[in-house]
Amino acid sequence: MPTPASSAKDSWDPQQYDRFQAERSQPFWDLAALLQPVAAPTLLDLGCGTGELTAQLHARIGASTTLGIDNSTAMLEKAAPYASDDVRFESGDIAAVDAADTGTFDLADLVGSADIVFSNAAMQWVPDHESVLARWATLLRQGGQLAVQVPSNADHPSHVLSAEVATESPFVEAMGGTPPPDPVLGVLKPEQYAVILDKLGFTEQHVRLQVYGHRLDTTADVVEWTKGTSLTRFRTALNDDALFDAFVARYRQRLLDCLGEQSPFFYPFKRVLLWGRMT
Ligand SMILES: C[S@@+](CC[C@H](N)C(=O)[O-])C[C@H]1O[C@@H](n2cnc3c(N)ncnc32)[C@H](O)[C@@H]1O
Repeated sequence: MPTPASSAKDSWDPQQYDRFQAERSQPFWDLAALLQPVAAPTLLDLGCGTGELTAQLHARIGASTTLGIDNSTAMLEKAAPYASDDVRFESGDIAAVDAADTGTFDLADLVGSADIVFSNAAMQWVPDHESVLARWATLLRQGGQLAVQVPSNADHPSHVLSAEVATESPFVEAMGGTPPPDPVLGVLKPEQYAVILDKLGFTEQHVRLQVYGHRLDTTADVVEWTKGTSLTRFRTALNDDALFDAFVARYRQRLLDCLGEQSPFFYPFKRVLLWGRMT
């Protein structure tokens, strides 16, 4: 059965995603700031995307080797120039539980190999975070650190309205009557992640909800933002460029009606940052 992850995987547009690079990289570095210094750690970046930040993180923490894993061909093509002797990028499913789940890279090969498992803005594409975190924890060596950031804004009009437009004609019919669910709906509350980390044996932890205030030029720029992320699932499900354009136009109108045409527009964006270390 297709997972939200696999349905999202081929719809990434690195150029669209990078339009808000500064805003998107801030949480990455806030997450990195939670890492405790370790000498020459081995780093795994799960859902590494375009790889640029992965390579920068590798350098910043003085990692010995870094492996970035992603399942988007477009993202991995962008990542290729950032590879080096110590930085590799591989195609793989970060949700895979065992070898049978993936035809490419197998996370099972990496059990007990990482000093740091890092994942920025990717886990929301994967269902069942409790199981996923348990799986990712097995990738760590004794004393290893897990650092994960997920958006937590499913209740913002930018998400609510796209889900509503997906139930309207002709879009709902084009998606076979069942539009893909918002992956961010699977994101848990900060305190739930704290309990999960504790159960998994992370004796040290830091979990927080942070609101990132983005000042966009106009309200309509929210559409440009979501086109690079949450709307990608509708592009895949509609599988028709003209229909997707109509979807985006309808969504833009609903968004402007709801939020008003403001310039600049302040976009409050909630994210959960979690870090844990097994001692
Ligand atoms: C929002 S981007 C974040 C990229 C990068 N971590 C960053 O901070 O810029 C999410 C990435 O997760 C990847 N992804 C989503 N589901 C995945 C899965 N099941 N396995 C591997 N990668 C996945 C996507 O292809 C995409 O590159």
